[in-house]
Amino acid sequence: MRIPRNVVERVRDTSDILSIVQDYVRLKKAGSNYLGLCPFHREKTPSFNVSPANGFFKCFGCGKGGDTITFVMEIERLEFVDAIRWLADRAGIEIPKTEEGKKAYDKRESVYEALRFASEYYVGKLNDPASGAQAREYLLGRALTEKTISRFSVGYAPDSWDGLIKAAEKAHIKLETLKKAGLVIERQDGKGYYDRFRERIMFPIQSHVGKFVGFGGRLLADNPKAPKYLNSPETEVYHKSTVLYGLFQSKRMARQEASILLVEGYTDVLALDQAGIGSAACCGTALTLQQVGLLGRYAKEIRLLYDADRAGAAATERAIDVVLQGGVAASVVSLPEGEDPDSFVREKGADAFRLHLKTATKDWVDAFFLASLSDNGFGTLHKKRQAISKVAQRIAYMKDDILRKMYVQKASQLFAISERDMAYEITRQASSNQAQQQPSQTLREENASAAPVNFDAISESEKTLLQLMLEEGAPMIKYILGNMAYDEFQEGPSQRLVDLLIETHEAHGDEVQSAFRSGKANADEITQQLIVDILMPRHEISKGWGAKKINVPRLNEKSKRIAEDCMMRVKGAVVKREIQRVRHEMMNAPEGSEDRGRLQKKYLNQKRYLLRINNRKLFED
Ligand code: UTP
Ligand code: MN
Repeated sequence: MRIPRNVVERVRDTSDILSIVQDYVRLKKAGSNYLGLCPFHREKTPSFNVSPANGFFKCFGCGKGGDTITFVMEIERLEFVDAIRWLADRAGIEIPKTEEGKKAYDKRESVYEALRFASEYYVGKLNDPASGAQAREYLLGRALTEKTISRFSVGYAPDSWDGLIKAAEKAHIKLETLKKAGLVIERQDGKGYYDRFRERIMFPIQSHVGKFVGFGGRLLADNPKAPKYLNSPETEVYHKSTVLYGLFQSKRMARQEASILLVEGYTDVLALDQAGIGSAACCGTALTLQQVGLLGRYAKEIRLLYDADRAGAAATERAIDVVLQGGVAASVVSLPEGEDPDSFVREKGADAFRLHLKTATKDWVDAFFLASLSDNGFGTLHKKRQAISKVAQRIAYMKDDILRKMYVQKASQLFAISERDMAYEITRQASSNQAQQQPSQTLREENASAAPVNFDAISESEKTLLQLMLEEGAPMIKYILGNMAYDEFQEGPSQRLVDLLIETHEAHGDEVQSAFRSGKANADEITQQLIVDILMPRHEISKGWGAKKINVPRLNEKSKRIAEDCMMRVKGAVVKREIQRVRHEMMNAPEGSEDRGRLQKKYLNQKRYLLRINNRKLFED
């Protein structure tokens, strides 16, 4: 659903970047800005800057930067529209809805509401001594603490066909909504509904932002006749292929560690969390590219920690393919035969488990090599050949040249073939990978568009000119653009920003700066990033600059001098390049020729022009 532009602007205007970032990053004041450890990459010295005056953040380590909306999109991994909602929610701004949009939105909200209600109901039943005693005993018997139980909102669905239905009725939740939430099942005879979950420990499944979307229900006692876990069906708010159990609770840890464990079961996530280790699990499905994309926003590396049984080994192999295809690093943690993370951490304790993680984590290529071997090595050469193809296929997913080369080296050693042969096999596999490429690629492209751009090619003087125009608005724009030719600015983002300054100046006149600040200037993503790059403290022109009021009615002499200085340098650089070029041409022209004469004249004129630039004889007010 579209959000009206003026609402987006209001959200942008009222959201205070400092208080939002501070929910995620500890910041220290540094001049007019704030500095902290970047939440988007791992670092020991702070290079993450927040400028409250400009409403921007920028990390000089990893290059990420933007406004409040960008920050929320990145940190909460939300689409633009949802980031606006998130901010509006926080600021208490109501988003008006179109009739149609409102209906759809309200319907979806009511499903969420029903799921939240159900979770509270199950938690209540677990805490109720009459209904929950046995379930509590079971959970505590599994060494789960009260804290963990409540952190994950674990509950209990009692032995009743209509307990939830009745409670919901009292709370004025429609049966229709319960059905949409996947909480009830229609009776065979078509006359009414009954509770889907009965006599089960309830693990609510939350989206990465904490919304309740579904449930996994475990049998209290092992009963071979019923499935151990009963899961919510797909609904309009629950898409199994995009959700990861536990990510809501572990995402902060994942970001700090830059890695996350992927496990098989709900109980594994709980046990690990209790040991202070962050993990997530797919809910009864195989890992998807969308899930890898989501995890990739928090962690650079996914460590697979599946059950040590045949099924776990097979799932690990499939998962490695998906992780690497999704452009995230993959490693494998092995467990003793027959264990799962939950049983292992319970037996050994948290410290021993952490130590195990350190020593038993292997790069996927090593793990794969070991897994391909049986008692008699590869068995047959054909099997070995197959394993080589598989490794090559995975290496072919990698985009980074150096990384790929490292893997070529490593894999050719492991499999005892030449690097050339391995590299050749990878090229072969790469083209077959390409042929079977899925629509999933859009995911990576989406991420790539958010990748930071490097503006080092634009000179500091040119950046300063752009900064002066952004900060001082109309009078400075007139002054600088009146004295600079368009193509004296660098082709690309720099000229695009000049375009934008001209357009915005024409549209908003003296209000040009506030148009920029409130997002009324229509900056594309790259230009927006350039603006962030320019307005961040690295380019602070003089002390106290940032504190200055935005509206400078007249050009002040000091900034005018700075502008002149920069124009002189930028122009000088352009003319010097030109002089070089002409000089080269001149030397190549035959002596005494007409061409040579013409070029000589041009050369001298340019030299004179450079002199004028250097003497500042060029600038008009
Ligand atoms: P496990 O059988 O390994 O369960 O299935 P577990 O998590 O170790 O649970 P405990 O320790 O026996 O209580 C792993 C995951 O596979 C899914 C669930 O998501 C489960 O957490 N599963 C398993 C089902 O969806 N249905 C089933 O019947 C069994
Ligand atoms: Mn298990």
